[in-house]
Amino acid sequence: MLNWDDPLAAPAKPEPVIKPVEPKADKSEAPRIVKANPAPSAVSNDTPQPATSKVKAKATDIPRPDMNPVSAKPINPEDKRVVNGMADINQLAPFKYPWAWNYFLNANKNHWTPLDVNMTQDISDYNRKLTLEEKHVYDNVLSYLTTSDILAMRNIGLAVMEKMTAPELQIYQARQVYEESMHTWTYQHCIETLGLDQGEIYNRYRVVPEIYAKIQMSNQRLSSVLRSDIDLTNRDELENFVMAYTFFAGIFEGTWFYNGFTPIFALQRRGLMKGTAEQFQYIMRDEVMHASFGIRVCKQIMLEEKLTLDPKAIQHMWEEAEAVEMAYSKYLLPDPILGYSHEDHIGQFRFVANRRAKSLGHVEPFPGAENTLPWLDEQSNLKKEKNFFETRVTEYQTGGALNWD
Ligand SMILES: [Fe+2]
Ligand SMILES: [Fe+2]
Repeated sequence: MLNWDDPLAAPAKPEPVIKPVEPKADKSEAPRIVKANPAPSAVSNDTPQPATSKVKAKATDIPRPDMNPVSAKPINPEDKRVVNGMADINQLAPFKYPWAWNYFLNANKNHWTPLDVNMTQDISDYNRKLTLEEKHVYDNVLSYLTTSDILAMRNIGLAVMEKMTAPELQIYQARQVYEESMHTWTYQHCIETLGLDQGEIYNRYRVVPEIYAKIQMSNQRLSSVLRSDIDLTNRDELENFVMAYTFFAGIFEGTWFYNGFTPIFALQRRGLMKGTAEQFQYIMRDEVMHASFGIRVCKQIMLEEKLTLDPKAIQHMWEEAEAVEMAYSKYLLPDPILGYSHEDHIGQFRFVANRRAKSLGHVEPFPGAENTLPWLDEQSNLKKEKNFFETRVTEYQTGGALNWD
């Protein structure tokens, strides 16, 4: 079964020892030349490289052509940093973060499109079997997710990816952007298949206060980093960025998304809306990877930049997330549907929140929270991967090749 806290196996080789260097606040100074452990490259790093020696340079600058075999040499991976790095960003390897490359390779084993899932039975279920209360749950889950996944795509693509200064990190995030757009396609496919009112579903977050509150909190937490002119050598800006990415990975993707699918899995357990649930199982696989990757990146930044986040600010963020989730849950489930209640939903939120906080190295925000949906981890794992993928001809690896253990 998939390990929800660490979906990938340990890196194949030990990560290099990192010797953090304090970032320079004064950008007018010459760029830093980081000297750490000897690089595995064949060439010594004693001679400064052209891009980092005299001119004010960025990792994204393309070095001037240099035919000198001594000075024009491969990058030293120890020069890479998650942010504020100076190593040439066009050189993928040698890796400093081999685990990031592994995330990319594993993500590419989870190819699918919403058209691959049979939705025929869902049309019948929605129109003939779901109660009004269950339709209320289904429609609002879909509405919340449509808005959230577009926000996720924009955040990772426009706010986070460009701040990274190591290409192996960016390449997984580029894949993540693609996956977020695939998720949006999935919701749109569900809406079209069931003949729901598209305008009403997409606009609902502006009409329903309980959905709006979650989107508003996300916008408040993320919008300040949705700028290309952020100077992450400024400690306040850096802390703000890491807080935003922590929120995004730990809460938005790792907890809200995870919890967001569960009402549909509850229907699936009763044999209802199985097509939609299967679609969500594929999305959930992606989201678990996204959350895990983001958490790892945040921890790496804090290590390299010697950054510590304020525990009170972290606790406040979790409590704020719980408050809006509580309101959303009560709106979604004013009365229980068969096999799923508001108490189940919010209890699971707190349980998963503790798990994510632990991964981030934080204290548990909701001590004593219990697993109110013990079936969830098993239910959210696909059970018929091979049959599903055997039905189509592909030239790439499929989910059937994925090792979730
Ligand atoms: Fe997504
Ligand atoms: Fe995501």
